[in-house]
Amino acid sequence: MLNWYDGHARALPWRSQPTINPDPYHVWMSEIMLQQTTVGAVKSYFEKFISIWPTVFVLAKADQEDVMKEWAGLGYYSRARNLHKCAKQLVEHHNGVFPRNADLLKTLPGIGDYTAAAISSIAFGIPNIVIDGNVERVVSRLYKIDLPLPKSKPYIREKAALLFVGKNQVRPSCFAQSLMDLGSVTCTPKNPKCVSCPLNTYCAAYKAGEPTKYPLKKPKTNLPEKQGIAYIYIYEGKIGVETRPENGMLGGMIGFPTSEWMVDDLQLKDNVRADLKIRHVFTHFALTLYPVILNKKTDRMIDFHDVDQVGLPTLFKKLWNMIRLEL
Ligand code: ADE
Ligand code: SF4
Repeated sequence: MLNWYDGHARALPWRSQPTINPDPYHVWMSEIMLQQTTVGAVKSYFEKFISIWPTVFVLAKADQEDVMKEWAGLGYYSRARNLHKCAKQLVEHHNGVFPRNADLLKTLPGIGDYTAAAISSIAFGIPNIVIDGNVERVVSRLYKIDLPLPKSKPYIREKAALLFVGKNQVRPSCFAQSLMDLGSVTCTPKNPKCVSCPLNTYCAAYKAGEPTKYPLKKPKTNLPEKQGIAYIYIYEGKIGVETRPENGMLGGMIGFPTSEWMVDDLQLKDNVRADLKIRHVFTHFALTLYPVILNKKTDRMIDFHDVDQVGLPTLFKKLWNMIRLEL
């Protein structure tokens, strides 16, 4: 894997040259962004964040609202709140220096098992078992794990632990990232390039002729469908917005006021124009919002021309792109 990595590592903005240690601030920032988002989507956000806030000290001093605004579109917004909290905590309690050890890293906001292991390995070269979605796929195939996700997770960890040992851990940072890159370049979900894979002589799923069968997945259950009304207050070229409560969905983000989001809100359907709606899929449910346009002033109105600059999350961006045509 280490030989393969030397020839095939992806050039990513948070990685350093092989002989130079990466900046822990960059590794942390990238790992938080990559928690639920693909490398392709993360790159430009990473570069933007690093250019606006080049160090953890600058980020700790930022306004939370600005951090949320720049995060808009990346999703899972509690990550942005925790990113800011973590920066403040690092400056206040750790002199702005990241702990090297995974257990200490885990005491910081937004850093769980995976992220702690990843930062400790990638930024500090400390051996840890690092299992992201890519590693999960590679290991499930290598060992042909015949249990569906997420039940298989402890078995995947058990098998992965057999890899993160000995000579493989001479360069822990490279080893962890080599499995990630193999998963994204070679051991891809749909068409793995097994013939050119450095692990093909060891791979049980390949030998069995069914690499894409793994990792096994539980059959999908349909997502609950929720509905809600979006209240679009329009007054003299301005539109009403609000900052959403910290603890709910899209917490701390700016948006248009809405009703509660509920399953099977039939009464709602009778009271709105059914042709005017948007649907957005979250992790645990899908939401259809029906906008109701009201010619009234609210406490917080912004100019139509500024709507694209305030950092609306994707749900409200979709809504705005539809209703702007109705105004
Ligand atoms: N996914 C999560 N962390 C990553 C990293 N450091 N390199 C590539 N993909 C990743
Ligand atoms: Fe993945 Fe194929 Fe390599 Fe096995 S041989 S690890 S299935 S790419």
